[in-house]
Amino acid sequence: MQNNPHIQEQLEKWVEENRGHVVLGTTAQYIPALGNEDPAQLGICMIDEEGNYYAAGDTEKEFTLQSVSKALSFIAVCCHYGLDYVLERVDVEPTGEAFNSIIPFEIHRPNKPFNPFINAGAITVSALLPGQTPQKKFQFLLEFLEKLVGHPLEMDQEVYDSEWQTSHRNRALAYYLKEANFLDIEVEEALDIYISQCAIKINVKDLALIGLIIGYDGYNPITKERHFSDDIAQVVKVLMVTCGMYNSSGNFAAHVGIPAKSGVSGGILAAVPPKLHSQTYAFRAGAGIGVYGPAIDVQGNSAAGTMMLKQISKEWDLSIF
Ligand code: DON
Repeated sequence: MQNNPHIQEQLEKWVEENRGHVVLGTTAQYIPALGNEDPAQLGICMIDEEGNYYAAGDTEKEFTLQSVSKALSFIAVCCHYGLDYVLERVDVEPTGEAFNSIIPFEIHRPNKPFNPFINAGAITVSALLPGQTPQKKFQFLLEFLEKLVGHPLEMDQEVYDSEWQTSHRNRALAYYLKEANFLDIEVEEALDIYISQCAIKINVKDLALIGLIIGYDGYNPITKERHFSDDIAQVVKVLMVTCGMYNSSGNFAAHVGIPAKSGVSGGILAAVPPKLHSQTYAFRAGAGIGVYGPAIDVQGNSAAGTMMLKQISKEWDLSIF
């Protein structure tokens, strides 16, 4: 099928209408390599179940996954060990605290980390990745992601180095995890895997494709390949709705209503499941969405990206609620 020119025009218009919202955020200063990005960028890509891509704005830019990787390492680990094994080690409860807060873990310890999308839970999941060494664990994740997007991926060494040197809080979290017996490997090894996965380079097109696969419960409707089970997809979508946008998750669910996962680089991965009773013409059979807008708000979500998704979801009736 040909790209629908009307959808393309609308997306281009909405990117420009929302570009002004970049002033509501700033680039992530606590990771110097991210802090140097141009905050004025905004781009989006959407893909439908037939493989039609619609891209508008700053779509060529490569950026790092950051916290978006937390959803993907969780899926990879669940595929290998099964959900039960993983959920014995990390819970699926929102915290109401910042993504890198020590408070929930400290107050509730030695309970398991609240969810795999806060840093404590994500570091726990990274350490679980199969492989005898940190390199092999990272390689497992990288290969899993390469199968999803259909081409090789690589890590951004500058972003890795920048975060490695400034990751004091993550180190503190990892020491808590080690003390509470949630890490079977050394603290520095777990951090290495976690920081490496956060530094994987991606673009909005790849994010959109991954979003489509999650929206289709682990199945790629274009290649007809299954990547993970319905059960895993269900838990991931619940986590995306309840924890994916951190302390804005409730607002995002109310006003956007699409399972999504953000990262401090300004990326958002969003999964629109099919909604056959929808009255609108666009994306009734579901879609994947990738957004890039490096100016992030206080919660750590792309400021303009979130506003743009709100508009798109409303106009095209994409909310799952
Ligand atoms: O650990 C960190 O702080 C970053 N590597 C990732 C945090 C992040 O992306 C939170 N998302 N909004």
